[in-house]
Amino acid sequence: MDTVLLSDKETDLEIAAEFIKKGEIVGIPTETVYGLGADASNEAAVRKVFEAKGRPADNPLIVHLADFSQAADYTASIPELAYRLAERFCPGPLTMVLPKNERIPMITSGGLDTVGIRVPSHPVMHRIIEISGRPIAAPSANTSGYPSPTSAEHVMRDMNGKISAVVDGGSSEFGVESTVISFEGDNSVRILRPGCVTREMLLEICDEVIIDRAILHELEAGQKAASPGMKYKHYSPKADIIMVEGSLESFITYVGEHGGNDVYSLIFDNDRDKFPYRYMTYGKDSSQQAHFLFQRLRELDEIGAERVYVRAPEKDGVGLAVYNRLIRAAGFEVIRI
Ligand code: TXA
Ligand code: MG
Repeated sequence: MDTVLLSDKETDLEIAAEFIKKGEIVGIPTETVYGLGADASNEAAVRKVFEAKGRPADNPLIVHLADFSQAADYTASIPELAYRLAERFCPGPLTMVLPKNERIPMITSGGLDTVGIRVPSHPVMHRIIEISGRPIAAPSANTSGYPSPTSAEHVMRDMNGKISAVVDGGSSEFGVESTVISFEGDNSVRILRPGCVTREMLLEICDEVIIDRAILHELEAGQKAASPGMKYKHYSPKADIIMVEGSLESFITYVGEHGGNDVYSLIFDNDRDKFPYRYMTYGKDSSQQAHFLFQRLRELDEIGAERVYVRAPEKDGVGLAVYNRLIRAAGFEVIRI
């Protein structure tokens, strides 16, 4: 299959929407990461998404809508709190897990009776949903297990020849995937996957925000994941990633003692002047780190890094999302010094 590279011009978005309507799949930019979009109500189309990614069938897809008011068409019930959250955070990087109705096929929800609903703010994704008139199921457009794509070029590298088209909408603003939440009680939610709608932001609306244990800890054998995606090895480049928690001074000492050929470090911008070994930087604060993380992990592979020591980010605010992606990329290998 030839994969067409489309621009973000209206005529190209019409071509992308036409592919979606015909049951084909298209790489589409969103404000978080690029998605692999298909008509969420078309089983054959959704099957192609799982095949192109090499994704396990029990890992559900998020359904993207143009407006939260459409959520009622695809769900069995919506708590009042969801409407209040939508008012504040939609469109934007928030996915709400709700009981699904029969218009969402089981293949889309990975066999669950719930569906993740998201209203993306990126104008290209928004417009393609609008023109196609379909709910769009879209996982991140990477090969399963590999870091999520934050540019059309990343999508092309993973998906060329496997999908109908990629729409180039520039580099993704946030750089990590949406915050996924489920509803616990009247005014309480659980974060299943942290993102740029942070715990602190959710607490402006909710009384209680629970951080699911799987965000920072490896699942124990036989334990069931509230979010199936959390049980798979994820975001992993070819290089061996090792997270190191501690001061810059102890980090430098550690890398000095454990260095070698093809070893790199991923450090903060402000560490640059003092750091004596080979490195890349990934930003000066959590938002920048989120924006650059996946891009850097891909770049480290390109330059042939075999082992990468990463300075661990803070675990609050957007930092929790960055930490969560890194701890998975590292296969839960964290060194505390
Ligand atoms: O920002 C995003 O959310 C991106 C863009 C493309 O919108 N999409 C994305 O999709 O990250 P994906 O499939 O790569 O990750 C979806 C995550 C998985 O961890 C999945 O297990 C969880 O959301 N999820 C989806 N539906 C769920 C459900 N019904 N219940 C629990 N977890 C769900
Ligand atoms: Mg993904």
